[in-house]
Amino acid sequence: MQGLCRVIWLSGVGLLVVALSAGAASPPEQQKQSAMSKKNEEQLLSVPQQIPKLVAEGALTLAQVPNPHWRRDACQACHAGTPTRTNLKLRDADINRLCSTCHAALSDHSYIHPTGMPVPKEMKTRLSKPFAQAVARARGTISCITCHDVPMTCLPQRVGARGLNPRFFREGPYRDRTALCYRCHDPEQYPRLNPHDQLDKTGQLRESTCLVCHDTPPDMTGERKVDFTVKQDLSRLCTGCHPWKPHPGGFSFKTGALPDHLRVPTARVLDRMRVMERRNNISLPLDPGTGKVFCGTCHNVHARGVLKTAAAAKGAGEKQRLRMPEMCGNCHDK
Ligand code: HEC
Ligand code: HEC
Ligand code: HEC
Ligand code: HEC
Ligand code: HEC
Ligand code: HEC
Ligand code: HEC
Ligand code: HEC
Repeated sequence: MQGLCRVIWLSGVGLLVVALSAGAASPPEQQKQSAMSKKNEEQLLSVPQQIPKLVAEGALTLAQVPNPHWRRDACQACHAGTPTRTNLKLRDADINRLCSTCHAALSDHSYIHPTGMPVPKEMKTRLSKPFAQAVARARGTISCITCHDVPMTCLPQRVGARGLNPRFFREGPYRDRTALCYRCHDPEQYPRLNPHDQLDKTGQLRESTCLVCHDTPPDMTGERKVDFTVKQDLSRLCTGCHPWKPHPGGFSFKTGALPDHLRVPTARVLDRMRVMERRNNISLPLDPGTGKVFCGTCHNVHARGVLKTAAAAKGAGEKQRLRMPEMCGNCHDK
């Protein structure tokens, strides 16, 4: 397989590549794709720098952006030649830019974590050797490879890690996300990682915490229209920090033995929700993008005192941040 990769690198986007790949055994999901789209994918992986433009022009949908991870035939998406110990031949020496070729369009990562900033001295002393080395490779700054251990997906002897660590976290897997956070952040400064801590000692809004979830600082005086740092599937605002599988309340959020609650409610449930919103003077917001129940439907993530409307404020700062201690009856009538 290493050989196959090399042939592709040396020959670029030639007929040889297409012929080779057609001869290789393809997994079932790829067999479904037409020969044409397979060829397109291969071409794209050899010229990934064209992806942002194609996406911007609408010539390529996000679903068509090829995934180069955990496979043996897409090394050329990141390496412009066979990597050696002394020269990795990365397409872009700036790792963040390399990854952003595709990820700038695919997903906005800033709601999970910023990149590009230097690591403060006192944090450096807390880092394990692998984290420290990864920071050093990006000239002392935080980059995508600080947390994501990319060679795990590149090297045949390491791909076995995929099942347990699909997002290839460095020194992972982690049982919950905060365990990763504490590889660098001081647990003593825990509150700084807590976006629910939204008011300072004098009761003023901490605008920087709003920006963990809202794209623009919410205008608390006029009409309260808010936007979000996550565009699709609002639950992703939360799942970056909260382990949720299985959800602590016993709600399953994936198809399985328990009902999946992150769904578009049936008419019956929706009627019940609207009735109970009035009866309990409570807000039960659905994900505006998808109409689905999401984490914020049951949990109020704001600190007490941030939201002024009584219904929207209910549950703020309460136990488990639940909008009401007894939630089920707000949506189910039996
Ligand atoms: C998504 C981009 C990407 C893809 C695809 C990719 N690599 Fe890499 N590879 C990297 C980056 C980035 C590094 C440097 C990581 C670091 O310094 O921590 C790297 C490092 C390596 C290294 C050095 C590993 C080490 O432990 O020092 C080898 C060897 C390598 N890649 C081979 C491959 C091969 C072979 C493939 C295809 C099967 C491949 N890569 C696919 C991005 C990629
Ligand atoms: C050629 C395009 C491309 C490049 C370059 C690329 N990725 Fe990806 N990556 C994808 C696609 C497509 C997916 C799957 C869709 C998604 O998660 O949005 C993905 C998924 C991921 C995932 C999630 C994996 C999962 O299964 O949940 C991580 C983490 C990731 N990429 C990190 C990186 C890092 C770090 C780099 C830079 C070394 C990088 N990617 C470079 C296209 C790319
Ligand atoms: C400080 C650690 C950290 C850094 C730095 C980091 N990530 Fe992540 N990344 C995470 C965590 C934690 C998650 C899991 C979030 C979740 O579970 O939804 C994640 C998830 C992802 C995912 C899958 C979820 C999604 O949004 O589609 C992709 C893709 C990804 N990262 C790419 C990148 C890229 C590209 C960079 C560099 C620009 C980067 N990461 C830098 C910690 C990090
Ligand atoms: C590899 C080290 C590293 C890891 C892992 C890491 N961070 Fe960070 N984080 C930093 C650095 C460096 C900064 C910028 C300097 C600072 O604020 O101390 C930062 C800044 C932040 C900030 C902004 C703080 C502020 O005052 O503006 C937040 C919020 C944050 N990290 C949360 C997290 C969360 C949540 C995780 C786990 C998913 C995490 N970090 C994992 C290194 C890391
Ligand atoms: C952890 C993520 C998160 C943080 C941090 C956050 N919000 Fe929100 N915000 C949401 C979600 C989710 C909604 C939609 C559900 C709701 O109305 O509670 C929302 C809705 C709102 C609304 C509209 C509520 C209504 O119906 O009246 C306002 C106003 C608002 N946020 C202001 C703020 C301000 C101000 C801050 C900072 C002090 C902030 N938010 C911090 C996630 C967040
Ligand atoms: C940057 C990380 C981060 C993000 C993003 C985040 N949280 Fe939190 N959350 C925390 C921390 C840290 C705590 C613990 C401190 C506390 O309870 O105030 C917490 C506490 C909670 C609790 C209370 C848990 C308990 O045991 O009482 C709930 C519920 C919750 N968050 C829901 C959400 C929801 C819903 C979202 C998304 C709209 C969200 N969080 C986004 C970090 C985060
Ligand atoms: C249908 C309502 C509902 C939805 C949707 C929901 N939760 Fe909860 N959540 C609850 C209830 C009820 C509890 C209390 C469960 C218990 O104590 O048994 C809870 C508890 C929690 C806790 C506290 C756990 C603890 O240790 O005390 C966290 C954190 C949390 N949920 C996060 C989330 C996240 C993240 C999402 C979205 C992925 C989400 N919830 C979606 C109802 C919901
Ligand atoms: C925010 C609204 C909401 C809350 C709160 C809620 N559910 Fe649900 N529940 C739903 C939705 C939506 C479905 C998906 C099926 C539907 O729409 O009828 C569902 C489905 C179910 C199902 C599967 C049965 C069916 O009709 O498909 C069970 C069982 C269930 N919920 C139990 C509970 C329990 C127990 C609680 C409280 C701990 C609870 N739910 C809280 C919205 C909610």
